[in-house]
Amino acid sequence: MPFLNVDIFDDLPLRLENSVNPYLKLLTQTRAEDSLPLKFGKELQKFRGHWREFFSAKLNKPVDKLILEIGVHTGKVIRNLAVDNPVQAFIGMDITLKRVVVSAQRLKDAGADNALIVLGNAKFLSRLFAERELDGIVVFFPDPWTKKSNQLNNRLINLEFCQQMQPILSERGFFWLKTDCQNYFKQTQASLLSLNFKTLTANPFGQPYESVFERRFKDQGQASYDGTWQKI
Ligand SMILES: C[S@@+](CC[C@H](N)C(=O)[O-])C[C@H]1O[C@@H](n2cnc3c(N)ncnc32)[C@H](O)[C@@H]1O
Repeated sequence: MPFLNVDIFDDLPLRLENSVNPYLKLLTQTRAEDSLPLKFGKELQKFRGHWREFFSAKLNKPVDKLILEIGVHTGKVIRNLAVDNPVQAFIGMDITLKRVVVSAQRLKDAGADNALIVLGNAKFLSRLFAERELDGIVVFFPDPWTKKSNQLNNRLINLEFCQQMQPILSERGFFWLKTDCQNYFKQTQASLLSLNFKTLTANPFGQPYESVFERRFKDQGQASYDGTWQKI
């Protein structure tokens, strides 16, 4: 169940009948018991500008970098990033109830205390993050919306999104994109270069962090495009 056009601070999941989606009950329980690293709705209001403090207090040590992954799916990439980089903190976002619950459970199972999952639409990024709050944004295989020409407007990453993201990134903050859609890749690159980002030759983690969709495309013999850009 996708929470696409729901305000990021709206507690809508708590107002829906549990019969609407089997993950609603888990989401409600999670908030009541604080049993999963998962945040949604009005409890997100206090975080803008304070994410780093939150993680430092939780981990009892300073956080080196704060990274956001958009479209975490089942949480494989964010789990691996968080486990491999314990001095950094990771926030994962997705719009579907099942995916946020499954991803948060994956983080919990891995003991990845330096990461949590947020239910919400990444279109509203600036409502969640203050200027220069993030050191990097990772987006792997965003929905390309290529089935019909009028669907292209649904793409998450466009010039407007890049303009919103630029002030939220710290100096030398990065944007890492992988996609199976060459035209999506080229348009994103053009938007970023027009906003004074420069192309990096490698991602900042020095490892590929293969995602579920990436594996799927490889198995089908389909090409993927992988790029990282840095704010200058
Ligand atoms: C094609 S899947 C890719 C999943 C994963 N990143 C991978 O590479 O395997 C796209 C993911 O983005 C999520 N998504 C789509 N639009 C989103 C949005 N506006 N904000 C946050 N997540 C979104 C979907 O629910 C889905 O999990």
